[in-house]
Amino acid sequence: MTLTGKAKVAGVIGWPVTHSKSPRLHGHWLAQYGIDGAYIPLPVSPDDLPSAVRALPKLGFQGANVTVPHKAAAAELCDELEPHAQRLGVVNTLICTRDGLRGANTDGLGFLNNLFHGAPNWRPEAAPAVVLGAGGAARAVVVALLDAGAREIRVLNRTRARAESLAQEFGEHIRVFAWGDWAQAFPDAGLLVNTTSLGMTGQPALSVDLTTLPRNALVNDIVYQPLETGLLAAARARGGNPVVDGLGMLLHQAVPGFQAWFGVHPEVTDDLRARVLAE
Ligand code: ATR
Repeated sequence: MTLTGKAKVAGVIGWPVTHSKSPRLHGHWLAQYGIDGAYIPLPVSPDDLPSAVRALPKLGFQGANVTVPHKAAAAELCDELEPHAQRLGVVNTLICTRDGLRGANTDGLGFLNNLFHGAPNWRPEAAPAVVLGAGGAARAVVVALLDAGAREIRVLNRTRARAESLAQEFGEHIRVFAWGDWAQAFPDAGLLVNTTSLGMTGQPALSVDLTTLPRNALVNDIVYQPLETGLLAAARARGGNPVVDGLGMLLHQAVPGFQAWFGVHPEVTDDLRARVLAE
């Protein structure tokens, strides 16, 4: 739609940012809701991040998303952090307010809402969750699961020390298993989620033996390129395991930012999915 002088503007800050699907995602919603607004890619190098972030309110931006490699550095530049951002020390959403710059982290919410949407019968508190990986994405997933009532989270990571420090930071509900110890970690699990980069296009495959995973355990991969990862294909091939792909996490994490910047609570629909997937 044509922009007026009152158009609201937001964007995504990354380096590089050309791969980002966020402009397409928010662009779909702006068109759907007929909003006088724009959402643009903002390529910002690490050296330029402080001045670029501080310029957002001065340029009249409503705010911005923040992606790789800026999520931690951007948190340091905020005047105020929402609770999840505070706990994780990283932000993916910046909101310009009268009091300054507010930082939020909506990745965990996006992860949870994707599962609730894709597997309405899944209950986080009902059975242990198994999390593969202990990096930044795993931290967001673990905190989200704890907040949602998970009583036991089993973390497996190639570098065990990283899983141990995650357990130390987030408490006694977390149990650490050795990478590859599937047979110990899987029995009676209600959720298996991959937060590592394994299985992503251009990365090594994730090879997991699912034999001991209960047939009713939900399987999710936060990797969404490809949409059907090896893990999801293997889970589907067993028959029975509910499977949710990772694209919905990207779609759902975008909701709070859009609402804050443009004043509309947007819906995650099949149309949106198709639009984001279209090349
Ligand atoms: P992100 O923010 O996307 O989570 P990250 O913090 O770099 O990125 O974490 C990447 C995760 O993928 C880590 O759990 C990493 O394991 P290590 O902590 O041992 O590095 C995992 N990962 C990456 N390559 C891997 C591989 N070849 N085998 C097993 N795990 C791997």
